[in-house]
Amino acid sequence: MTDQAPRPEGEIPGRPTAASRTTLSHIMTGNDTNLLGTVHGGVIMKLVDDAAGAVAGRHSGGPAVTASMDEMVFLEPVRVGDLVHVRAQVNWTGRSSMEVGVRVMAERWNESTPAQQVGSAYLVFAAVDADGKPRTVPPVIPETEQDKRRYQEAQIRRTHRLARRRAIKELREKRVADGIDD
Ligand SMILES: CC(C)(COP(=O)(O)OP(=O)(O)OC[C@H]1O[C@@H](n2cnc3c(N)ncnc32)[C@H](O)[C@@H]1OP(=O)(O)O)[C@@H](O)C(=O)NCCC(=O)NCCS
Repeated sequence: MTDQAPRPEGEIPGRPTAASRTTLSHIMTGNDTNLLGTVHGGVIMKLVDDAAGAVAGRHSGGPAVTASMDEMVFLEPVRVGDLVHVRAQVNWTGRSSMEVGVRVMAERWNESTPAQQVGSAYLVFAAVDADGKPRTVPPVIPETEQDKRRYQEAQIRRTHRLARRRAIKELREKRVADGIDD
């Protein structure tokens, strides 16, 4: 006996946010530094993409590629020796895309203080089939109030991303139609 309504034929069952939430941890080394001796932003971005990709693959049950990364924020420098934890979860799902939210925390190697947030980012992954074509993903089911808020905020970002892409595409098409070649 279940209290769930029957699903339309062919619809993929939803998966709760918690089912694919993941944390990737990594100790920063001397190979990860920039000219200032702190950790290079690109090293953190790689970890963010790795963690988000793992979550997208787990949620969608197969390969998923990074379509975009935005709102990458670096709040505090990360230092050599710090233990960095990259927490990722699927915030929102569309037909074939997923927005993954990532929070980057650092435990300082020389301080016994709680981990400090040092960055965050939002990435859109598209689930793809063996030919690299988008495939349908299970809807994410936000369960906690925090997950529900993140879902709603992701929808706002999705609307803005689509509107921005459309506006730029229209501008470029207009310039071409006007005979402007840049
Ligand atoms: C991402 C990719 C699969 C999209 O393919 P496409 O033929 O444009 O397919 P669609 O237009 O149907 O887009 C698929 C989904 O991704 C979303 N999407 C595509 N590009 C996007 C972008 N730049 N930002 C946000 N979402 C995007 C679409 O909105 C759509 O979402 P929905 O199905 O939930 O509505 C394709 O562009 C690709 O393979 N890119 C390369 C990805 C890659 O190699 N990443 C690693 C870089 S080394």
